[in-house]
Amino acid sequence: MQRRLIDRFGRVHDYLRISVTDKCNLRCVYCMPEEGMEFAPDERTLTFEEIYEVVRVLAGLGVRKLRLTGGEPLVRKNLEQLVGKLSAIPGIEDIALTTNGIFFAGKAEQLRAAGLTRVNISLDSLRADRFALITRGGDIRKVLDSLEAAYRVGLDPIKINVVLMRGLNDDEIDDFLKLTLERKLHVRFIEYMPIGHDDDGWRNKYVPLSTVLERCEANGWRAAQSETVYGNGPSQNYRIEGAAGAFGLIHPVSDHFCQTCNRLRLTADGNIKPCLYWSDEFNVRPLIGDDRAVEDLFFRALDIKPENHEMAEALKQQGQSHTPTIRRMSQIGG
Ligand code: GTP
Ligand code: 5AD
Ligand code: SF4
Repeated sequence: MQRRLIDRFGRVHDYLRISVTDKCNLRCVYCMPEEGMEFAPDERTLTFEEIYEVVRVLAGLGVRKLRLTGGEPLVRKNLEQLVGKLSAIPGIEDIALTTNGIFFAGKAEQLRAAGLTRVNISLDSLRADRFALITRGGDIRKVLDSLEAAYRVGLDPIKINVVLMRGLNDDEIDDFLKLTLERKLHVRFIEYMPIGHDDDGWRNKYVPLSTVLERCEANGWRAAQSETVYGNGPSQNYRIEGAAGAFGLIHPVSDHFCQTCNRLRLTADGNIKPCLYWSDEFNVRPLIGDDRAVEDLFFRALDIKPENHEMAEALKQQGQSHTPTIRRMSQIGG
């Protein structure tokens, strides 16, 4: 009988998020420190062949959906070769990419031809000057070109990720919502997550996502919950009456979605991460080639996956001890 990746809480894991590199060509204010980060040396990064081997084993355990993340995944040369290898694995149905969109336009056709099914593009402002400020130097025109390229090659749905930040982009909610009225795309407003670093300076940047629904009302736009957007993630989806596109709210902080968590993560240096928030990691690299050992390590990781990301104290009371991750978002891939 096929082994399935089911954890102690009955959650079925059929989705793997693969960070293919911790490197990034941008330094978004909510993700990286201003001075940048020290990246892992290339020899510590899994090769495409190694990633393929891990996914092949996981497909045998019921993993059906993959997402390639970074850092910025397209910093990795010839990413389409990896997509091609992964899409040939029996059982893999969905290969999505989360990208900052700077290099995507030039690669869209090759990625699509290799089997990419979907793309999520980070775009936190529609204004060139602000976009440059938030990304510390990014050129919005490249991202807008990438968006058009995604339509051209027929990716569907196309999603845009907007991390909402008070005083930085929260006055653009209407503009993003208007975009969904006009274009067939899916804008997701995301709460800022204080992951892997001290968030004191960021507490006052928090924007409750209820603001988005209030903006709909203020504009007289009737928004209703909608289940019609395909996705494997935590977004609660809505559509404004008559809109070509849709929008989503991702509340990792205020209303967590751990009960339905279906995902495992693989870091660029080959660590299995059962939960985004905790430091528990298991390095699979030395085991690649021994399928049974790779399987067993994933089951070990799943065995200690916490029920949720509530504070460490509560877990200690249940006799478990987990410490928060010290990796930054760019080293996990979101
Ligand atoms: P689809 O719904 O399948 O399109 O993907 P997704 O929304 O899961 O992927 P994406 O990489 O675009 O992530 C959007 C946001 O959701 C990012 O800020 C992620 O960090 C966040 N996110 C995704 N999975 C998790 C999770 O398991 N826990 C938390 N807290 N946040 C997550
Ligand atoms: N909080 C919320 N979202 C974040 N992302 C990166 N860092 C954070 C954070 N601290 C988002 C990016 C990208 C996705 C992978 O995660 O905007 O869209
Ligand atoms: Fe790079 Fe993405 Fe982090 Fe921005 S959010 S610095 S684009 S990894």
